Amino acid sequence: MTQLRLSVRLVLSSLAAAVLSAAAANAQTAEPATPSPSAPAAGATPIQGDAVYKAFHERDGIQRVIDDFIGRITSDPRIKRRFEDANLARLNLLLVQQVCYLTGGPCDYSGQDMRSAHQGMGLRNDDFNALAEDLQLAMDKEGVPFSAQNRLLAKLAPMQRLIVAH
Ligand code: HEM
Repeated sequence: MTQLRLSVRLVLSSLAAAVLSAAAANAQTAEPATPSPSAPAAGATPIQGDAVYKAFHERDGIQRVIDDFIGRITSDPRIKRRFEDANLARLNLLLVQQVCYLTGGPCDYSGQDMRSAHQGMGLRNDDFNALAEDLQLAMDKEGVPFSAQNRLLAKLAPMQRLIVAH
């Protein structure tokens, strides 16, 4: 039963589905006319309002999600080798900033843009999908409602073309 629920979840909130729901989300909430200076580097403009940020249990909840997520990606046999030489403290800090910013929280993102950050890593679609699954599991563990999870995934999905090598 749990396994069924998990596989249904993974199908429903796959990044392909997230791309589709991005259109619906954008139709509900207009994007800001002048994005904050963080937006180009963060890879997307933030979700409007603070409902999604609150659904993540604000900054403390986002910190818990990212702590758990980093534990998952660094032990996931599909992608852990990618993080062997990474500065995990820096990655943790920047991911919290990025998720806080994108979910509409009171944060700015101070890291590199998504293309520069992943250049030369030779990342593939499979890497991206594995990381997205790990993020979903971390959000589940925090009890983030699926609707809020999908709003964030819809912001992340279009970054795939910047992150995956061509
Ligand atoms: C939507 C998907 C992703 C997002 C939002 C994301 C976000 C980030 C951020 C914010 C940074 C830090 C940038 C900086 O240092 O200034 C980063 C670095 C990095 N990312 Fe990603 N990333 C994504 C996908 C991936 C994937 C699929 C992999 C590999 C499986 C990956 C591996 C890395 C590595 C190895 C670093 C460098 C860490 C270091 O050198 O210290 N990322 N990413």
